[in-house]
Amino acid sequence: MEKIKILIADDVEDIVNVVKKTLSLEADTFEVVGSAGNGQEALDLIPTVKPDIVLMDINMPVLNGLEATEQITKEYPGVAVIMMSVQGEAEYLKKAMFHGAKEFIIKPFNYEGLVETIKTTHQRHREMQKNIVPKEEKEREGKLLTYFSSKGGVGKSILSLNSAITLSQEKNQKVLLLDLDLQFSDISILVNKYNEQTILDLVDEGQLNTHQEIEPYLYEYNENLDMLFAPGKPEAAEYISKASIERILKTLKPKYDIIIVDTGINFDDNTLYILDHAERIFFVSTMEIASLKNTKLGLNVMESLGYDQNKVKLVINRYNTKFGVSKGDVEAVFKDGIYAMIPDEEKIVSLSVNRGEPFAGKGRLGKTKIEKAIEAMCNGILE
Ligand SMILES: Nc1ncnc2c1ncn2[C@@H]1O[C@H](COP(=O)(O)OP(=O)(O)OP(=O)(O)O)[C@@H](O)[C@H]1O
Ligand SMILES: [Mg+2]
Repeated sequence: MEKIKILIADDVEDIVNVVKKTLSLEADTFEVVGSAGNGQEALDLIPTVKPDIVLMDINMPVLNGLEATEQITKEYPGVAVIMMSVQGEAEYLKKAMFHGAKEFIIKPFNYEGLVETIKTTHQRHREMQKNIVPKEEKEREGKLLTYFSSKGGVGKSILSLNSAITLSQEKNQKVLLLDLDLQFSDISILVNKYNEQTILDLVDEGQLNTHQEIEPYLYEYNENLDMLFAPGKPEAAEYISKASIERILKTLKPKYDIIIVDTGINFDDNTLYILDHAERIFFVSTMEIASLKNTKLGLNVMESLGYDQNKVKLVINRYNTKFGVSKGDVEAVFKDGIYAMIPDEEKIVSLSVNRGEPFAGKGRLGKTKIEKAIEAMCNGILE
């Protein structure tokens, strides 16, 4: 078994020696890795001696035990502090616990008390640490999803954006929305952000190897949702290579639960790369005959690319009956069925587009039909 490493901080040398002696009686269990005469010394020693436990006196010169405990708890959460105090310092002790100390022992201590306190505190602290995964460092899955269509204007951008918001706000997923419709940059317009950095700035000036390097180019829509906008200059598409996109995705993947890509309608290299690597493609169509026809052809292409039915899902947007085509008619044509039906809500959607304010995630009590339909689609994504 690994020994419990202990750092002793007390300005009274006798105490340090007594503790050392006591712990040396169980040399198989404990190892005193250092001693300090005040809180500051203790803090300075931690990175080198890497203790599991700090036995800390309360009253010490330079930096007292309370402040030192607070700093240790903040900076080295893996280290547990046990306060040592004399009878009558109850108030201080309470404070110490408040500042992050895990336990206390009263001086003068007996052998068993000291040994037992250290062992149980160490055990408990280790158990606790196991359950804490720092939010920042948690590796995420970075599930890649994309909306695609073989005809323009069917609602890819509206659905990408509003599903990204729903997943981030209502399903508590960490989401990246990546606008790869490089020529028209719909997403930045839909959220009313015209002067933000785009993927062109990133590829132009930035390094793509770490999240820190990419972060300044991301727009934080909410705590859980970042967006990387498209440049909106038709000529810009040439500057953004498949290799850069590959690099960006590789770097960002572990930072997000879900990455949603809004594509243009060109079957170019970049789009193909995304389609190839997506776990799911939402093929978007409206109920118009022309759109349905193009969708049928597009789905055939997907099949010939070897994408199976788990990967490609048909989403009917702007569902209504005014085209004289029913849900049943559509289902008869598409053998794998319809994955989601998003109603035609002209008023809500147009208002949202014109104002540059997405309709999802407004936190209204009564959800509209279109919000509910998008939420249902998002539930499917999380299954
Ligand atoms: N569910 C809906 N109900 C009503 N109108 C909608 C709906 N979805 C989209 N629209 C309308 O269709 C327009 C086009 O939508 P959107 O920009 O999302 O399409 P797109 O597929 O991204 O187009 P492009 O191919 O140009 O990128 C929107 O501006 C909006 O007016
Ligand atoms: Mg679009």
